[in-house]
Amino acid sequence: MIIRDKIFKIHLPKPKYKVIKEIATRWSPRFYSEEKIPQKDINSIFEAARWAPSGRNKQPWYFYHAQKPTEGYKKLFETLDPYNQNWAKTAPLLILACVDLKNQPKYGEYDLGQATFSLVIQARHLGYYSRQMALFDKKKVKQIFKLGKNIEPYIIIAIGEIGDYKKASKQIIDYELDPRPRKSKICEELI
Ligand SMILES: Cc1cc2nc3c(=O)[nH]c(=O)nc-3n(C[C@H](O)[C@H](O)[C@H](O)COP(=O)(O)O)c2cc1C
Repeated sequence: MIIRDKIFKIHLPKPKYKVIKEIATRWSPRFYSEEKIPQKDINSIFEAARWAPSGRNKQPWYFYHAQKPTEGYKKLFETLDPYNQNWAKTAPLLILACVDLKNQPKYGEYDLGQATFSLVIQARHLGYYSRQMALFDKKKVKQIFKLGKNIEPYIIIAIGEIGDYKKASKQIIDYELDPRPRKSKICEELI
């Protein structure tokens, strides 16, 4: 079996019940094609985040984005920890997802998660894959970019088309051959 098929076999969801295509095809690769993402797609991706629900409609999220080969991309990339830099270097687009904790201290992170997943699913709908990263230097981000006073960096999302695994390093392939298990029981009816 060629390596791409092997990796997809491991990572593609195996839903027991019917789910929408974007859920059934979403997973988080560590290898991207460097193909640039057109601005109209970036606009749609953020539009999906805009319409996410939030506690008391506070919308306590703010996103920054940077595409290769800009200075902004380079500077944001430098804040990733070495493990993430190792795989994220192929991703054409990085999104810095931030929470406005002053505006929504109680549910801010929860709300940001909803907006982020909306964005991830919209990206999948447009043919892109993404992988989120919590491992980055938040202090450094704040020093470099001088974000708004109450804007807290929370997660960086790498987005792009999936890469040609024939060009990936052995280390990346080894990461990608790691299984992606899911818990089987996640709900039960209240009685
Ligand atoms: C809050 C959060 C933080 C994450 N941080 C990292 C990270 O720093 N580096 C990384 O490679 N993946 C990171 N991930 C990706 C997860 O490891 C991945 O989503 C998980 O293994 C499930 O795989 P799947 O997205 O393919 O279903 C993160 C995901 C989330 C939601």
